[in-house]
Amino acid sequence: VIKRSFSTSMAKNAIKNVTVIGGGLMGSGIAQVTAQAGQNVTLVEVNADVLKKTETSIATSLARVAKKLYKDKPSDGEKFVAETRGRIKGSTDPIASVKQADLVVEAIIENIDIKHKLFKDLDAAAPPTTLFASNTSSLSIGEIASVTNRKDRFGGLHFFNPVPVMKLLEVIRTPETSDETYQAFMAWGKSIGKVCITCKDTPGFVVNRLLVPYMAEAVRMYERGDASARDIDTAMKLGAGYPMGPFELNDYVGLDTTNFILEGWHKKMPENPLFEPLESMKKLVSEGKFGIKSGEGYYKYDKK
Ligand code: 3HC
Repeated sequence: VIKRSFSTSMAKNAIKNVTVIGGGLMGSGIAQVTAQAGQNVTLVEVNADVLKKTETSIATSLARVAKKLYKDKPSDGEKFVAETRGRIKGSTDPIASVKQADLVVEAIIENIDIKHKLFKDLDAAAPPTTLFASNTSSLSIGEIASVTNRKDRFGGLHFFNPVPVMKLLEVIRTPETSDETYQAFMAWGKSIGKVCITCKDTPGFVVNRLLVPYMAEAVRMYERGDASARDIDTAMKLGAGYPMGPFELNDYVGLDTTNFILEGWHKKMPENPLFEPLESMKKLVSEGKFGIKSGEGYYKYDKK
């Protein structure tokens, strides 16, 4: 009986139109996997130039997916790419973009004031039934939701980089997120091919709360001169089976991102030594060395 009533309510609430705000690394990945699952996506960016860049990066990633899925039939792969791209509509107007949305996923800059302004506007513009989610990795979902009148229809949907590859989706409930919203988030995550886990609205949720202190400890080890970055990476890949070492991962995620998360947590929880800012990372960030995306971080990369 429970099963039947669950599926009936899911069918009623099935999410078909998704608006993704922000077309950076995470937002473009979220738009891509949603469109791959057959849903309609509106992807919002600040201007046409940025939208174009976002569309190009989605096309590149889709080509990688198609190569894997349609190894023996490249023509089907081309069709898959074209159809998936066809389901993603670009927009530079956040207000207009949410009018038909069943779900809005925000993946913009990690700045609480900017997120508040955006969600206030979206809350006024979207139908009352529209669910809102933030992909924030370090801010409080409850604090972001506080400016809206739909705290019961608000939660966290936290994806991992690279979104088309990483299978996990963290679904974050605040004390005010309703059961129905939570169930709809879990069902939606499944519908786009992710494995969902649930976490309370705590700093870093599960993955970043464990991963960020681990990466920071690796940097402290390197700063003390105990071992080289290269050897720490080799150690964790070959000795613990991680796909990337902590320095490779830091450069991959972006040193600006890790540094921002650490500084934010340190400010909130100054007594926790795990969140002490890192001298070498602060220096690299101040020099514009953010990792792979800028051509240099803890390692140097060939600029394409
Ligand atoms: N789009 C589509 N496909 C992609 C892709 C992308 N952006 N990036 C990689 N792939 C595919 C490749 O095509 C390849 O497919 P294949 O198996 O059919 O050949 C497969 O993924 C593996 O890629 P590569 O062969 O290029 O390289 P690796 O085997 O080293 O895998 C990796 C790359 C998947 C990134 C792997 O190294 C990995 O899992 N690294 C750890 C990533 C991680 O920890 N992410 C979480 C970061 S924390 C975070 O995101 C939270 C945020 O809040 C900060």
